[in-house]
Amino acid sequence: MMRFPVPGSLRLRFLLAVTLWVLLGTAAIWFSAVSIFSRHVEQSYHEELEVHVRELGRLTEIAPDGAIVLTRPLSDPRYDVPLSGFYWQVTAEGRAALRSGSMTRGSLEEDIAHSPEILHRLDNGPTGPAITYGFTRKGSAGEDIHFVIATDQRELDRLIGSFTRDLTAWLAGLAALLLTTGFAIISFGLKPLDRLSLAFARLRHGQAEKLEGEYPAEIAPLAADLNAYIHQNEAMVARARVQAGNLAHSLRTPLAIITDDAERLGKFDQGRAASTVLLDQASAMEQQIEYQLARARSAAGKKPSGRGVVLPDVVLPIMRAMERLHPDKRFTLDAAGCRGTVLPCDPVDYAEVLSILLDNAGKWASEEVRVTALCDGSGASTVTIADDGPGIPDHLIDAAFAVGARFDPAAAGSGLGLPIARDLSEAMGIDLTIANGAKGLVAIMRFVPQALEQG
Ligand SMILES: Nc1ncnc2c1ncn2[C@@H]1O[C@H](COP(=O)(O)OP(=O)(O)OP(=O)(O)O)[C@@H](O)[C@H]1O
Ligand SMILES: [Mg+2]
Repeated sequence: MMRFPVPGSLRLRFLLAVTLWVLLGTAAIWFSAVSIFSRHVEQSYHEELEVHVRELGRLTEIAPDGAIVLTRPLSDPRYDVPLSGFYWQVTAEGRAALRSGSMTRGSLEEDIAHSPEILHRLDNGPTGPAITYGFTRKGSAGEDIHFVIATDQRELDRLIGSFTRDLTAWLAGLAALLLTTGFAIISFGLKPLDRLSLAFARLRHGQAEKLEGEYPAEIAPLAADLNAYIHQNEAMVARARVQAGNLAHSLRTPLAIITDDAERLGKFDQGRAASTVLLDQASAMEQQIEYQLARARSAAGKKPSGRGVVLPDVVLPIMRAMERLHPDKRFTLDAAGCRGTVLPCDPVDYAEVLSILLDNAGKWASEEVRVTALCDGSGASTVTIADDGPGIPDHLIDAAFAVGARFDPAAAGSGLGLPIARDLSEAMGIDLTIANGAKGLVAIMRFVPQALEQG
């Protein structure tokens, strides 16, 4: 399939180059063929007419009564068809001129016939511009006899014109064929690049772990280098995660000891203020540690699954689980427009974000949690999770995404749900926001596919 070339693309360059090349080539062939053919036609035309004028000279005699006569008609019958475009004329001083049967009117200029050599030039004939040939010969009384033959210029033009028309049609066909095959060759040649960009898209959408496919020798090293780079990068990120997790883990025991000592310090009157500060700081550190451990846990051993997220199927099992976790709340799903929509996101991460948001909604809803999925044809989707609970005061909405942020001391939790959900969403290209709705809190997960493929 021929793809439409975008400005600045290799394909467009090749198409322009091939088009120019083919047009230049056919134009050059056209010009040279027409000029060579015209030269040849003119030459054989002249040769033929010189034969005619010579024949005219040979057949001409002066009769005993002094009249100019032909011993027999010229061999070309066109000289006898009226106004056929082929004319001859013999004149001599003091005698009546003899003209071909085709010359039912007018006469020919005899100026051209002023030497024994056959000369020719363009003159006016009985039916328009004519190529005129002539020579003279001395008669028996020493008088000049002028032999003139003329053929209409359009006869020659007609010959060349019909050749040019045929040639033009043929060359136009050839150019069209060359252009089509040229475009097909370009498409064929650029196929590996198209495959490369598709492989890139799959990679970026998380449907593949590396650049897949075989590539020609010119770009195979590029693909191999990129794969090596991707691999190295992944390994580095994984190592960094594990290190963050290890670090967090190794801080737990010292922190527990500090907390323990701070609590003991608080039992003394002089140490009470210091103890409060220490305990506050220790708890902040603990939250960070828990967050890092939770992130390390969710990243551990995870591979891109390559399946993508199927809406609304991904929601159902999580909803069932939440119904068991919050048995007194009602969960409903409306995803009529999203049947079978596949998002190019990691399903494990997507499910984790949904779990966090549904758990929050279940915790704070008074009766009902509504999940709505909206999809449009372009692959964009919006999933909203709305509850009918107290919501979050507007000025605290942004702060809710901070590690450890909790605004409801009565409810259990560690304040890590929303920051983790946002982290995972960002990695998947999902825009996660929360807002106060008509009844309670509304969490919105908006996915817009990025324009990946260009050209
Ligand atoms: N649906 C909601 N309705 C009302 N308040 C909410 C809702 N979701 C979150 N919040 C508020 O935002 C805070 C942060 O939520 P987050 O999920 O990050 O932590 P958590 O639920 O308290 O703890 P965790 O999820 O780590 O168990 C909550 O403590 C709560 O005060
Ligand atoms: Mg939570």
